[in-house]
Amino acid sequence: MDAREKLVKYHQEQLLKYFDELSEEERQELLKQIEALDFDVLAAFSKKHSGEETRGKITPLSALELPAIQARRDEYKRAGLDALKEGKVGAILLAGGMGTRLGSNAPKGVYNIGITRELYIFECIINNILDVVKETGTYIHLFVMTSELNDEDTKRFFKEKDYFNYPEEYVTFFKQEMAPCCDSAGKVLLEHKGKVATSPNGNGGWFLSLIKSGVIDKVKANGIEWLNVFAVDNVLQRICDPAFVGATIVEGKEVGAKVVRKNTPDERVGVMCLEDGHPSIVEYYELTDAMRDEKDEKGERVYNFGVILNYLFKVSSVEKIVNEKLPYHVVKKKIPYLDDKGNFVEPEEPNGYKFEQLVLDMIHLSENCLPFEVVREREFAPIKNKTGVDSVESARELLKKNGVEL
Ligand code: UTP
Repeated sequence: MDAREKLVKYHQEQLLKYFDELSEEERQELLKQIEALDFDVLAAFSKKHSGEETRGKITPLSALELPAIQARRDEYKRAGLDALKEGKVGAILLAGGMGTRLGSNAPKGVYNIGITRELYIFECIINNILDVVKETGTYIHLFVMTSELNDEDTKRFFKEKDYFNYPEEYVTFFKQEMAPCCDSAGKVLLEHKGKVATSPNGNGGWFLSLIKSGVIDKVKANGIEWLNVFAVDNVLQRICDPAFVGATIVEGKEVGAKVVRKNTPDERVGVMCLEDGHPSIVEYYELTDAMRDEKDEKGERVYNFGVILNYLFKVSSVEKIVNEKLPYHVVKKKIPYLDDKGNFVEPEEPNGYKFEQLVLDMIHLSENCLPFEVVREREFAPIKNKTGVDSVESARELLKKNGVEL
């Protein structure tokens, strides 16, 4: 379908409003961008606004808790170390987000959280991987997902910093897809007269992007069977943690999910559960009071383990679900755009919607999942904001407590 037909089909002809003012080159660029973009995402907007979004039946999914892990730690660790030494485990760093809450246009990983010395978020991640490399004597392939908006800056930074002493041949970058952004009436916005407003399409498309970019060939060629997928902003996380890898393998699961015990029953984290019998995540705002207070026979709350965006996926299982369409989540955000008069506006308040696929929906397509409890103070220091909760400040405190010199 050519660009004009596509715009008619999706009722988005406003995107050619300034077409006559563009040079021939700019026109071709705009048409090419329209042809490449997936306008099917807009169906998620209609669904949200017609109240058609529904969830299946939510029931508890018990986690492998710390005492149970401790009791079998040696066995789990051995299995994990074997897989790592055989090169069967790779790591996927999700670094395609825009990090808007941190308030910088640069990739989040280049943020310097050091106080008396330089210590970058990417550096923390590499240091954490190096801990396992030291333990196993084997380098781990790291695949870094970027987006069109931060790909060049991310690659340049790694080069400038000499990959923080990680061997360059073990670091591979791949780009995720972009999705159009729309206003509150569902009309796609223009960023410039010759460019549609877009944003990275969420972290859930990592496997498809791995395939589209051809980087999956490198995964296969290296015999990687498991991929540890994790967020850029948790500076304390253990990557390719042998006990976690081993537990997922020994317990015969397709997916492992690191979880932490909630601080309070009302903490704003997504919680592992079953949805229609499949592993899933229920968001804090979806938890009813009854679910929040539901207890098991030991008197423990059953929706008590929050996810920290650190998952282990079995490659062969993900390949089976790759043709399933992940749903798009509609997120209200500030979107710079061209107004009716052709003026560029940078809004102070959310003015439109972005479309994102989420890793947690991949979990739901899996047959089973092992929630694996970790100690929050040792493994969870996310940096989402400049100050306050989940911020540079709180992460610094946690890093210090764990003996990291700042
Ligand atoms: P967040 O949901 O915290 O989003 O991402 P963000 O874009 O980094 O930050 P805000 O919301 O704009 O402040 C969680 C993880 O998923 C990655 C992020 O880089 C982070 O590691 N992510 C998010 C992607 O890789 N791609 C995306 O499109 C979105």
